[in-house]
Amino acid sequence: MKNHHGLKPFLYATVLAIVLHFVSCEKGTHSTDDETLGHPIDTTGMVVEYRGAFVVPPADPVLNWVYLNTNDSGLYIYNDTSWILMISDGSDGINGTVRVNGTSGKNIFITYCDNSFSNRPAVPSGDGTLPAQWHTNYTPLTSWVSQKIASSATDGTWGPPICFRMTGGNGLVYFEGFKPDLLCSECHTPDKDSFQIIEKKWQWSVSKHSESTIGFEPGISCTECHTTEGFFQKINGLPLTIDINTTPVGCFACHSPHKKGDFSLRRTDPVLLFSNFIGVSRFSFDYGKGNLCAKCHRPRAVMSQLDPGKSSAANDSIVITTSRWFSHYGVQSQMLMGKGGYEWQNGPVPIIQSAHTSASQIKSDGCIVCHMATGQNNSSGGHTMNLTTVNQGSTEYLTTGCVIPACHPSPMTTFDDNGKITEIRKNLDTLKILLSQRHWLDTLTMTVKASTAAPLVISPSNKAGALWNYFLVANDGSEGIHNAKYANSLLRNSIAKMRGQF
Ligand code: HEC
Ligand code: HEC
Ligand code: HEC
Ligand code: HEC
Ligand code: HEC
Repeated sequence: MKNHHGLKPFLYATVLAIVLHFVSCEKGTHSTDDETLGHPIDTTGMVVEYRGAFVVPPADPVLNWVYLNTNDSGLYIYNDTSWILMISDGSDGINGTVRVNGTSGKNIFITYCDNSFSNRPAVPSGDGTLPAQWHTNYTPLTSWVSQKIASSATDGTWGPPICFRMTGGNGLVYFEGFKPDLLCSECHTPDKDSFQIIEKKWQWSVSKHSESTIGFEPGISCTECHTTEGFFQKINGLPLTIDINTTPVGCFACHSPHKKGDFSLRRTDPVLLFSNFIGVSRFSFDYGKGNLCAKCHRPRAVMSQLDPGKSSAANDSIVITTSRWFSHYGVQSQMLMGKGGYEWQNGPVPIIQSAHTSASQIKSDGCIVCHMATGQNNSSGGHTMNLTTVNQGSTEYLTTGCVIPACHPSPMTTFDDNGKITEIRKNLDTLKILLSQRHWLDTLTMTVKASTAAPLVISPSNKAGALWNYFLVANDGSEGIHNAKYANSLLRNSIAKMRGQF
């Protein structure tokens, strides 16, 4: 039981010292991130700001401001909604002497509760250990306190529970803390939407990002790209954990509004893309803000890798034991850069790159230049990241990102610039037929006809490059638009390979 003497001169200083004490103990042991230190409400504890003694509450209060009301001698704290009484003054003790229990004056009693911040406990009673979740010793898990000023521990009435933390457990919004002096109402005010959050939320809700955890069990290796929580853990070098109730790739994956106080992007440093070829090292993807996208839209490792050094070898073979013998689905980053395809040294078609790979307009911000252009009716562009929409039966293409004087000067009605996409579609179809005739490709599941029980052996190994290239272009999902020249040169070489032309 904390028992502090009711001597007026010591009262406020003592209480503040106790409160600040929590903060200093916690800081040393629990914080993992320097930026959150010393901050009003963070994952580590609470700092109050004493504003002085006033007749009326100070104007424009901020969370955790504390002031002394000179009318009723109460110490008030602002809980972000209203001023609530934190401590009220007891009767004066006898000046200069230490009060003896039960003889005169009153004590401050404080009791603690470890409920999570979202689980407000009932008001304590008795000596502060009832109901059972209240205890009189502080623990590192304490989130709630209550106090009273009474002549004995069992006397008087406990005050309403005060939440000591805006943090709690693994709560997503809280796990990285809040920026010091963050003004919550900047974003959370019903009658003002300065950042157009509602619009962004709506757009996001029609994007596939809003479905990203659906359709598979979020296995531990999947969460880093398919959930906000996993992405956060990965990007901050934390161990990946499985949480049954993960959330899709949402606002807090790409932004960090609470910690940064704005909607700048969480991370935009270049991404080292994995290479699935023997002897080929990783390559750096660097397209400005688009780097954020490539942190997920990137290849994953596969077993049984091809060796480009053996692209003209005649007698080797490759054993494929997985039906998913491709670099997952997020190959768009590779495709834009013109990497990741199997290139034969003696292929008949030269490997070339589209202007998309290096044009300064795209180098600047990559993926978002096209996918986040201003769209219509919140169904394309922006946070939908969607470029094709069907409106009253007719397909509409968002070409705002394409029609730039130096790029595509005249209005475009489809993405099929000069019939390039039609040609890629045709070549992709041809290759698909050739691969399925060979029984390498299962066209029903769009996977490889291979498993550990029934491995697919291809000889010479370089011939499997055709299968590899098929998946690269197909899984990219843009029908070659990201890098039409590269996609098409890979397809044409692959077709020639399957036809035995080289
Ligand atoms: C820069 C903008 C911004 C500021 C400032 C901000 N938030 Fe948020 N906050 C968001 C966004 C965006 C979301 C998620 C969007 C959504 O689901 O509405 C969110 C979600 C939340 C949630 C989850 C519940 C919910 O409504 O989705 C809580 C709780 C929350 N914020 C508390 C706070 C508190 C407390 C503060 C001030 C200390 C604060 N926020 C300041 C942008 C902000
Ligand atoms: C490196 C990041 C990353 C990891 C790790 C990852 N994925 Fe994905 N996954 C993506 C991206 C990005 C897409 C979407 C690509 C697209 O739509 O073109 C995707 C798409 C998919 C799809 C296709 C969904 C559809 O709508 O067609 C499935 C299924 C899938 N992932 C399953 C998994 C599973 C299961 C795991 C874990 C074993 C996993 N992913 C791990 C990034 C990842
Ligand atoms: C997949 C990543 C991603 C997700 C998820 C995402 N954003 Fe964004 N957001 C971006 C990118 C990229 C930009 C920058 C666009 C630009 O600069 O043109 C942006 C820009 C913004 C902006 C404009 C910032 C400015 O300064 O103009 C706001 C506001 C915003 N996002 C809010 C949200 C909200 C709210 C959510 C959740 C509903 C959300 N975003 C989800 C990637 C994302
Ligand atoms: C945290 C990981 C992550 C980030 C960051 C991310 N994405 Fe995604 N994205 C995904 C996943 C996962 C899917 C697939 C969802 C599914 O299929 O269920 C997806 C789907 C998409 C789709 C829809 C694909 C389809 O098949 O319709 C587009 C377009 C897209 N992302 C573009 C972007 C762009 C542009 C950015 C950067 C602003 C970005 N993504 C950032 C994970 C991410
Ligand atoms: C030059 C403009 C441009 C750039 C840059 C670009 N894309 Fe695309 N992307 C497109 C177009 C156009 C499509 C085809 C859209 C359609 O048919 O709806 C597409 C398709 C996609 C798809 C498949 C969507 C679907 O509906 O299946 C995904 C996923 C995607 N892009 C992600 C990305 C990512 C990630 C990046 C950056 C690495 C990127 N894109 C860069 C223009 C672009």
